[in-house]
Amino acid sequence: MEKLVIEGGHPLVGEVVISGAKNAALPLMAATLLTPGRHCLRNVPDLRDTRTFIRLLEHLGVKSERVGDILYLDTTTLTSVEAPYDLVKTMRASVLVLGPLVARLGRAKVSLPGGCAIGARPIDFHIMGLERLGAICNLDGGYVDANSSGSLQGNVIYFDIPSVTGTENILMAATLATGETVLNNAAKEPEIGNLVDMLVGMGAKIEGRGTDTLTIHGVDELHPADCVVIPDRIEAGTYLIAIVATGGHGTVTHCRPDHLPSLLEKLRMAGVLVTETKDSITVEWPSADKTEMKLKGVDITTMPYPGYPTDLQAQFMALMTQCSDSCVVNETIFENRFMHVAELHRMGANIRIDGHSARVDGCGMGGLKGAPVMATDLRASSSLVIAGLAAAGRTEISRIYHLERGYENLVDKLTKLGAKVWKEDE
Ligand code: UD1
Repeated sequence: MEKLVIEGGHPLVGEVVISGAKNAALPLMAATLLTPGRHCLRNVPDLRDTRTFIRLLEHLGVKSERVGDILYLDTTTLTSVEAPYDLVKTMRASVLVLGPLVARLGRAKVSLPGGCAIGARPIDFHIMGLERLGAICNLDGGYVDANSSGSLQGNVIYFDIPSVTGTENILMAATLATGETVLNNAAKEPEIGNLVDMLVGMGAKIEGRGTDTLTIHGVDELHPADCVVIPDRIEAGTYLIAIVATGGHGTVTHCRPDHLPSLLEKLRMAGVLVTETKDSITVEWPSADKTEMKLKGVDITTMPYPGYPTDLQAQFMALMTQCSDSCVVNETIFENRFMHVAELHRMGANIRIDGHSARVDGCGMGGLKGAPVMATDLRASSSLVIAGLAAAGRTEISRIYHLERGYENLVDKLTKLGAKVWKEDE
């Protein structure tokens, strides 16, 4: 296993190019299962999770070919309808094959994801939605076995909580259902807009893009897709926070500022200068003098889009350890998403957890000290990277395979910004 070593205290300065979004690429890859043919997906990030998803698709009979950031998926012949536990347990998003497989083949058998570091994360909405479309779902041996005789039937579906992958699964399944499906309280994340665009490009009929009510008019057939994955807003947000936390200045390019409204507002409230173009965001401090860099404590509450993203909560908390007063971080999406707090304590952070809230008493810019810490999940790991870059001295982060699930060329991108960071064998 490898660890990440960081010599902290060097301001990040320069430009970083943002990759395609992991959370958009995975549902687009799943959507190719809906119809036979050779699909073309562009701007697909090369990550542990996208590689795992390709393995899952290959297990189902799909043939894949990667040329640079273009991924060709040939779904002409499917030979299995089963997503096995070994794959699903390492990546919950494997559940995204459920909807397309039932819609196309009338059957899917997907292992239940089980618990993960950030909470229980059930898939009851996915199952309920498919049942509303006429599938019969049985739980057997840790698997959900979904069957439909004939095509699915359109229906009205309501989610108690807007689930991102739940919305994606139902959207995909409903494209080939008979009649009209209305999904109420759908999630509105930009990644869902990307999926809607792909499905419409394949011949699906969908109304309500970007809203919480999606209406899908089922069609008899779809055709292969040619679609571009949107830029990763979480990767962009992570680099912006890292630049600010180290007292640097820089620009993230090839991104969508309009997909990060809450983070950019929170950074401005903290005293950071933020400027946007159509596809880039620049952050800088009002004064380049480090003694004058005072970060204001800003409260955040994670919410479904366009609220503050839970996937940027841990990173923002790492930034807030540098503030000159205090703030409160409320996590409303996942019940166990403060795993990074104990690790940040090891670096000198003052954070007190009370249920779903964490109060952060800042130690000022450069106030953290490097320490050996352990990565626990993908986004918690990136908060430790940010803390390590900002801290004085050496930080060693073990279990970095978590980071490799979601950040393409992390070490190269940070090094180009002037960070002293490298991998070592543990
Ligand atoms: C997706 C993202 C993940 C992000 C999360 C929230 C992907 C691949 N992953 O995960 O990075 O952190 O959205 O923005 O896109 N819930 C249920 N029952 C269900 C489904 C969800 O109770 O059947 C609950 C969850 O426990 C959670 C909330 O709904 O409290 C939202 O979860 P959801 O949006 O489904 O998360 P994912 O789609 O798994």
